Amino acid sequence: MMKTSKALWLIVPAAGRGTRMAAQRPKQYLPLAGRTVLSCTLARLHEVFPEARLCVCLDDTDTWFDPAAVPFTDWRRITGGPERVDSVMLALDAIADEAEDDDLVVVHDAARPCVRSDDLQRLKAVLATEPVGAVLAAPVADTMKRADANERIRHTESRDHLWHALTPQGFRYRLLHDALTYALRSGVPVTDDASAIEAMGHSPQLVSGGRDNLKITHPDDLMLAELVLAAQAESYRK
Ligand code: CTP
Ligand code: MG
Repeated sequence: MMKTSKALWLIVPAAGRGTRMAAQRPKQYLPLAGRTVLSCTLARLHEVFPEARLCVCLDDTDTWFDPAAVPFTDWRRITGGPERVDSVMLALDAIADEAEDDDLVVVHDAARPCVRSDDLQRLKAVLATEPVGAVLAAPVADTMKRADANERIRHTESRDHLWHALTPQGFRYRLLHDALTYALRSGVPVTDDASAIEAMGHSPQLVSGGRDNLKITHPDDLMLAELVLAAQAESYRK
């Protein structure tokens, strides 16, 4: 029988230890806006992708995770790997028997709780017709300096066509699986999922999103995220 609509998979890597945050617990479990960072992130994703089949990548020693914080009906826990790319790969392997080659897979960092619903909507709309895939991104605003090893400026990089790659990033299952497999085997550095797709010679679409989609990384970021969420809540009320 023909399937009328393809499944939408959501992978949320949340197996990191938050070394740079240096908190008492992994940063995805720090309190934010009355819940945890992970809970805020999942709630945002659920607003726009309620139908998604969710994979949450968690460290196998994780004792903080609370299943009650997952608003999705179809979800599973995946044991993460040593690096983010390994966690995503393990999730793709775990769904290999169920996912169709052209199912959409959207990957979003647990550490990005401030992603805006309207940005998610626009990304979703682009992904519906985009064969390669798409990445939420923000144009670079600051002047960019290339430095030498002693942190002295060598020159100013042109800002033209320079973007910050954010998440979510979405691709077709088979392409992402093949690209990450190739990257892991060949040692191509993969700092985001799109890098692996690029290494296969493809050009994912950039979708311009809010610069407030920050990745909680350092201690200061938690306070910023708190302010961003409060400001977003205020603007939704207006
Ligand atoms: N992540 C993961 N598996 C890993 C490493 C990271 O699932 N082995 C997840 C993190 O939980 C986070 C996202 O990938 O949601 C982005 O990674 P990053 O910001 O680097 O988080 P951490 O690795 O936890 O932080 P740090 O690098 O400071 O240790
Ligand atoms: Mg990390």
